[in-house]
Amino acid sequence: MNKDVMIEKTKEFVKDRLYGEGSGHDWFHIERVYNLAKYLAEEEHADTFIVEMTALLHDIDDWKFSDDSRTNTTVTENFLSSIGVDAEASKKIITIIKTMSFKGGVVDASQDTIEGQVVQDADRLDAIGAIGIARTFAYGGNKNRLMYDPAIKPMEFQSLEQVKNAENHTINHFYEKLLKLKDLMNTDTAKVLAEKRHKVIEDFLEEFYAEWNFNGEIH
Ligand code: NI
Repeated sequence: MNKDVMIEKTKEFVKDRLYGEGSGHDWFHIERVYNLAKYLAEEEHADTFIVEMTALLHDIDDWKFSDDSRTNTTVTENFLSSIGVDAEASKKIITIIKTMSFKGGVVDASQDTIEGQVVQDADRLDAIGAIGIARTFAYGGNKNRLMYDPAIKPMEFQSLEQVKNAENHTINHFYEKLLKLKDLMNTDTAKVLAEKRHKVIEDFLEEFYAEWNFNGEIH
């Protein structure tokens, strides 16, 4: 099987599994991350096969369901071997997937390859901007969370247990994760894209509080 066919097979596999996923990691998230990652890979001269495959498979196995801080990648590993991806490429893809996610900022997620940096940037870019806002509220709704409660302030997470068990409202997630992402971008190309998306979030929050605290003044 040549690489283009492998990528097509992977798209079919992922679309099949994640199409209607309800917490913001659905197929369209994958498709956006894939397109962003492909663009970043070209700009940053990364290996496009590794980047494309990793972007497509990065949410197939979810760290939130595994016991330790590392994502359990059994499903992904089995799939890669079923389509004949060689051991070296497979190892690169799996290593990135195991280590790339934010996990409340309590685990080291730094990437030492340009391919890992590019995919991580793409996933983080899809967590900010207008799409990031929409995904954050979709995720909160999926978890039955309040969108906001002014009495509950954002947390500085200390452990993965806290991240997994936090009873929280959605606005806090902007402070606990989204507003931090701009400064965590790895590549110069992603930093440029992140600036605008970060500004969209800041403007949104300002308007959100103005409406929440409406007092008859027009801003
Ligand atoms: Ni993702």
